[in-house]
Amino acid sequence: MQNIVVLASGRGSNLRAISAACAAERWPARIAAVVTNRPLAGALALAAELGITTATVDHTAHASRDAFDAALADCVDRFNPDWVVLAGFMRILTPFFVNRYEGRLLNIHPSLLPAFTGLQTHRRALEAGCKLAGATVHFVTEDLDHGPIIAQAAVPVMPQDDEATLSRRVLAAEHLLYPLALRWCIEGVLKVHRGVVVQTTGQSQLIMMPPQGADA
Ligand code: GRF
Repeated sequence: MQNIVVLASGRGSNLRAISAACAAERWPARIAAVVTNRPLAGALALAAELGITTATVDHTAHASRDAFDAALADCVDRFNPDWVVLAGFMRILTPFFVNRYEGRLLNIHPSLLPAFTGLQTHRRALEAGCKLAGATVHFVTEDLDHGPIIAQAAVPVMPQDDEATLSRRVLAAEHLLYPLALRWCIEGVLKVHRGVVVQTTGQSQLIMMPPQGADA
């Protein structure tokens, strides 16, 4: 049984999607813990509802980024993680942390990387007039939002979209994308060659959300 540790800062809807897929698809894995950096993160209540162990490492209680990341790693290591999954974890991680979990540290970013790294991705996609938006699951490297891409989900941008409608559509795609990408990790069907992730069973690493779902 492989151990997944989910790191979250907010509401935890990706956590819910991963937990549901893990149970429904009978992954040889379990979510060993949900760790937040905020004592009031919605993900904590959700984890409790799902019967998952929780922990909080409050970043405001640590004098530096290095001190916080050391405490976070101590906490994460207690759960013997095979996979460390960032699901709305709103902290920039130090090289120490990233290197410690290299190859087993995943993130989801709400854009089609390498476009729109950083924050406010949906607003920036709308301002740029993009007709396609989406989300990316990638291995985390020291280079923020730039690690090897495991899979992407693309959604249409509709003329009447605002940030709220677009982010809802992308989030619905994230809930399909993250479980798929994590399942591949657990199954051991990914290979990284020169920074490019190959799905060795030939399954598509792109989810295209149909336009008819566009007003979701
Ligand atoms: C998602 O949009 C994810 O892409 C981004 O943060 C958000 C987390 O949402 N990194 P949730 O907490 O999983 O609902």
